[in-house]
Amino acid sequence: MSVNNTYNQLEINFNVKSNNMTKSISNKNQKKIKNILTVGGLFAGIGGIELGFKKVGFKISWANEIDKNAAITYRINHKHKLFEKDLKELQTVEVEKIDILTGGFPCQAFSVAGYRKGFEDDRGNVFFEILRFIDDLKPKVLFLENVKNLKSHDNGKTFKTVINELESRGYHLNYKVLNSSQYANVPQNRERIYIVGFRDKEVYNNFEFPKPKKLTKTIKDLLDDKADENFYYNKSKYYAQLKEEMINSDTIYQWRRTYVRENKSKLCPTLTANMGTGGHNVPLIIDKKDIRKLTPRECARFQGYDDSFILSDKLANSALYKQVGNSVTVPVIEAIAKQIKKALNV
Ligand SMILES: C[S@@+](CC[C@H](N)C(=O)[O-])C[C@H]1O[C@@H](n2cnc3c(N)ncnc32)[C@H](O)[C@@H]1O
Repeated sequence: MSVNNTYNQLEINFNVKSNNMTKSISNKNQKKIKNILTVGGLFAGIGGIELGFKKVGFKISWANEIDKNAAITYRINHKHKLFEKDLKELQTVEVEKIDILTGGFPCQAFSVAGYRKGFEDDRGNVFFEILRFIDDLKPKVLFLENVKNLKSHDNGKTFKTVINELESRGYHLNYKVLNSSQYANVPQNRERIYIVGFRDKEVYNNFEFPKPKKLTKTIKDLLDDKADENFYYNKSKYYAQLKEEMINSDTIYQWRRTYVRENKSKLCPTLTANMGTGGHNVPLIIDKKDIRKLTPRECARFQGYDDSFILSDKLANSALYKQVGNSVTVPVIEAIAKQIKKALNV
């Protein structure tokens, strides 16, 4: 064989090999692309649940939210489609099919509707809207989040309804109350119930909730040295009382209408949707300058949002407090989403 022939043969061999390699890489990629599961988010708020799922590699396909201010924050921070309307008006044919359906649904609906009464209740029970989406889209996985009290509400009947309705649709369910301070390295005392459901029994068997995580971050790590003048209480009619009752600068207090409560465990108390209005539940601190409330940015940090998450200055602070208080602790969602991914083996 001439040198040229040998060279040509080598080149052919190399091309065949490299073609095979490209094929196998692209097969792998295709497999990977195929394995990226999609998420649809109900009651999306500012998208804390969607963010947690996105962070572990799921693809968010769409979300739904009724509140126009929450939708502003949502759209600044997320690129996927947001249906801004009442869920009752959103038809399942309008949205793409998804693999995972998520929702941190408001639980007030259950305070007016009794066991299954929501079906006939004119005011509509939003939980039953979730069921409509489940019936029509048949997602592989369900992820629901709610206040811890969902379990005990109406002597446990509400929770029983939730579980029965989901199980009767073929889902195998896991649920657990997790405290953000124990699972997310975020110093906020926030207990929430998380319900994870799988259609596939084997995947359900593979799933376990995340293990607790050591808390290394302190309140101080998440606070700014100072804030704008309007966050300080020196002009408040309660200033003298606050000055007297607030003595520790290394914890967070909470204004409870007529008195302040100190958090003894050196955690941020549960942030609530109403903390920006009416003076109730406002988290207070003593900084180097004086007594002030936490800023919306600081509250967002106590929900595990990093500072790249945009809080628009076009929105009133009261709207931002409400959005952040209504939201979730993102790293908790991330930790559960990671476990879901593991169970699905994707
Ligand atoms: C507890 S919050 C969920 C917050 C969200 N998980 C987050 O990370 O920001 C419930 C959300 O449901 C929305 N909501 C309530 N009723 C609704 C409805 N009928 N249709 C669409 N959204 C609704 C509220 O505006 C609120 O933002």
